[in-house]
Amino acid sequence: MPTTVPSFSKINLGLAIGPARADGFHSLTTCYQTLAAHDLVTVEASPAAQTAIQITCSDARVPCDRTNTAWKIVDLALQSLGVSAQVRIHIDKRLPVQGGLGAGSANAVAALLALEAELTGHGVVALPDPERLRIAALVGSDVPLFLIGGAVLGVGRGEEVYPLPHIPATECVLALPDVGVSTPQAFRDWDELQRSGGMELPPSSEAGRWTGNSPSGKLIPLSRVLASAFVTRPFAAAHSSGVSALGGDQFENPLLALVRTGMENDFEEVVFRQHPSLGTIKRLLSGSGTLEAICAALSGSGSALFGLYGSADAAAAAEARLARSGIRSLRTQTLPRDEYRKQLGGSR
Ligand code: C5P
Repeated sequence: MPTTVPSFSKINLGLAIGPARADGFHSLTTCYQTLAAHDLVTVEASPAAQTAIQITCSDARVPCDRTNTAWKIVDLALQSLGVSAQVRIHIDKRLPVQGGLGAGSANAVAALLALEAELTGHGVVALPDPERLRIAALVGSDVPLFLIGGAVLGVGRGEEVYPLPHIPATECVLALPDVGVSTPQAFRDWDELQRSGGMELPPSSEAGRWTGNSPSGKLIPLSRVLASAFVTRPFAAAHSSGVSALGGDQFENPLLALVRTGMENDFEEVVFRQHPSLGTIKRLLSGSGTLEAICAALSGSGSALFGLYGSADAAAAAEARLARSGIRSLRTQTLPRDEYRKQLGGSR
């Protein structure tokens, strides 16, 4: 019996890019947040004399060979398990292919979990969690986060992940512009911008805000901001600072604390320069007045952007603004860890 697992997506609530490392990757600090919008990954697997992996996908733009993230992770998992198997993978694509939403990375994790479920039925023991995380990191920097779900701190090259406390489910609108952004190119453009001194750095003395003029750029400031935002404070403190309530319990929603810090995605500096239309879309997502977004930003290196909203009305208004401008959008919600894990299949 084939196993089908939802393959969710993510946004980045703040992303600070540090220097290029010796291995060519960049150090970064980010807060990932998983979303309910998903693809579906179906795996059928049984032990065999030789491993053979076959992939099909509903979207012709997705490569169905060894370069596919699902292929890579299944191959690595079989090696780690010491098992040969016939594996058929089908990816039902509902998310944009190159969007900064981590869809390809999530496909890998869904394929891994479905593979393990299939092989467990044949008496193969599941991989330990740390081994899953190791394999995921070999496939891509934003693969491991999908083994955790919810709000996740990402450091290192993004592959070193730590669960962050709960952010309540929040209305989300994704804008999906018809623009392709290459992540490696965006990192190279960032390096070039640093070299050319094209950054307008805020004064380092600005309390509680960014300091970009240290060797590690904003990495450490963003880590501090994330750490402090997730220390929940009594709700009353949020009211007295003039920030509206969201979530409705007695503690402040960490999302509001994060937004107050003015968290940013460094990729906007380079991607908006090359694609000014994306800056315009961010303003459309932000809106104004009572229906204003809690926050709006580019996700990863884009080209998808997101807006988070305090009410369904505010999200609907943002969708309408995008529609009037001819921008494709997708309405979803953030997916906290408990619900994320439940939907992946309980114990996984
Ligand atoms: O890890 P992943 O395969 O997703 O990365 C794709 C490319 O993005 C890398 O080959 C590298 O060029 C760039 N990258 C980077 N620093 C990171 C993550 C990715 O330079 N932290």
